[in-house]
Amino acid sequence: MLEKIKKTADFLKERMHTQPGTAIILGTGLGSLANEITEKYEIKYEEIPNFPVSTVEGHSGKLIFGKLGNKDIMAMQGRFHYYEGYSMQEVTFPVRVMKELGIKTLFVSNASGGTNPAFEIGDLMIITDHINYFPEHPLRGKNLYGDRFPDMSEAYSKELIQKALQIAKEKGIKVQQGVYVGTQGPTFETPAEYKLFRIFGADAVGMSTVPEVIVANHCKIKVFGISVITDLGVEGKIVEVSHEEVQIAADAAQPKMTTIMRELINRA
Ligand code: HPA
Repeated sequence: MLEKIKKTADFLKERMHTQPGTAIILGTGLGSLANEITEKYEIKYEEIPNFPVSTVEGHSGKLIFGKLGNKDIMAMQGRFHYYEGYSMQEVTFPVRVMKELGIKTLFVSNASGGTNPAFEIGDLMIITDHINYFPEHPLRGKNLYGDRFPDMSEAYSKELIQKALQIAKEKGIKVQQGVYVGTQGPTFETPAEYKLFRIFGADAVGMSTVPEVIVANHCKIKVFGISVITDLGVEGKIVEVSHEEVQIAADAAQPKMTTIMRELINRA
């Protein structure tokens, strides 16, 4: 595994002419941030040795390098979801490669269903913490590096959360804060499951992010995450939900999400 990671990182290093310290996983709601990257150069996932290839509609797969404002960054356009059939090793492989490339801070976005009754569709939720409800742990097995029992007391950087809140205030963007529970999907939740997650202490539920954030913490990469609430898993407000509707709600929230991320990356 370590050898695979190194080989992939070496392949990328040969092609990289910048040294980014910042990585972004362009999840749902953040696609248009890619348009703001300047001095861009791209490498398709299928060209990268050992890289999984993404399959889901609306997620094309490539690494984008360049500048966002004054910051050298690398961005993943297209991520790997457990529900697609990838192993946890595959889902988190890019984060391990990021570490090898010298990434210090990771920014992630996603879409989720709100379980907090105060939330509305289209709200942004800064992720303050998570609950790992995936059936398999990405760090199960031989410990490759770092701690065998990694600390998770500040999985999402408090400093970055404070900065993001400040930015939202300055820009007049309403943001919520809360706990994200990550599930394997691909089903959306039954009403009973939404209720369970609420009782668990979650404010939103989605099908990604948690594995990557665990691995980032394991290799001491700082994390900031933001979620767009695309539907509500709140008793009395639950209606039929589809991928298309999730996409539409996420697209509508995209400008707000992009503003916060762009500013935060520049100030981080
Ligand atoms: N549940 C799980 N994942 C999601 C949801 C949801 O309600 N909405 C968007 N992603």
